[in-house]
Amino acid sequence: MSDASPARRPRVLSGAQPTADSYHLGNYFGAFRQWAAMQDEFEAFYFIPDLHAITVDYDPALLRERTYIAAAQMLAAGVDPERSIVFVQSHVPEHAQLAWVFNCLTGFGEASRMTQFKDKSATGGADKASVGLLTYPMLMAADILIYQADKVPVGEDQRQHVELTRNLAQRFNHRFGETFTVPEAHIVKATAKIYDLQDPTRKMSGSNPSHAGVIDMIDTPKTVTKKVRSAVTDSGSEISYDPQNKPGIANLLTIHAALTGQEIDDIVAEYEGKQYGHLKVALGELLADFVGDFGRRTEELLADRAELDRIFAAGAARAREIAVPTLERVYERSGFVAPLG
Ligand code: TYM
Repeated sequence: MSDASPARRPRVLSGAQPTADSYHLGNYFGAFRQWAAMQDEFEAFYFIPDLHAITVDYDPALLRERTYIAAAQMLAAGVDPERSIVFVQSHVPEHAQLAWVFNCLTGFGEASRMTQFKDKSATGGADKASVGLLTYPMLMAADILIYQADKVPVGEDQRQHVELTRNLAQRFNHRFGETFTVPEAHIVKATAKIYDLQDPTRKMSGSNPSHAGVIDMIDTPKTVTKKVRSAVTDSGSEISYDPQNKPGIANLLTIHAALTGQEIDDIVAEYEGKQYGHLKVALGELLADFVGDFGRRTEELLADRAELDRIFAAGAARAREIAVPTLERVYERSGFVAPLG
């Protein structure tokens, strides 16, 4: 079927960096849950952006290990390699090749103004930040545009990168002729930003200074229960959903609702007259079960690395069937002489 065929299913694409020993609950609710839900309606591309992972300090042996953990956790979250194209970014070299073209279409100031770059480069100072950190969003644009993706399910923190991707698609199309589909971010409002349990004004993130407020998908049920029990809550004792004045309780209610599928209002009604502690105990138990099951599935998948390697190989082969012709078209439109053969 040709790429331009109107009969093709719309495409969804997303990735999550293998930069920690485990994904956390924010990744799960902000991203993976949507990935799993979208894989039938869409032709799905889900990948592990290992090239992005080397834009900050890293250890090669750990990166390799974390790539397998990332794959096992994606599958444990419901991504099915029979229904989705699952692959590792570095196995499809066309991403980096297309990124170069986008680097040359992006202003230096435009790239320097990206929020994630500003935050990450502020941590160690401009001299410590790699050029890769600056060009990170153009690689992300290449990840998305090389497959002509229609939807990109992400959390709120990636909205700006998807916006830049849209701009680059339009810029290229305008300058060199219609080439790229202009994608849309798919951000589920209710779970677009899960907050740290210890500091509910900060997003849950593996790079937060303490892990006490981050629920890792690899945590034991006991650790999870403890983390929820010691979650920072707000003054007062009445359970109500008020993100402005009660961000701690609002975050716990958000997680509870996401986990059970209940409406927040119904949960609030259920807890009328009860204390914060009651909500924490109930949520702690729910989460402990959830993470416990997730951990068991991850372990099983991780025990068979040969199978994960086969999934990666099959995924990269399918991905390249689309990535190679897109890159050829881009090179041709960019004015590069086609090599013989
Ligand atoms: P990454 O690896 O930081 O995060 C993976 C996904 O998890 C979401 N997320 C959250 N959602 C809700 N609450 C939170 N606290 C939270 N923390 C993280 C992120 O928004 C993301 O959806 N640049 C991307 C990886 C990437 C990518 C791509 C994504 C590379 N190429 C192409 C989409 C398409 C990133 O660093 O996500």
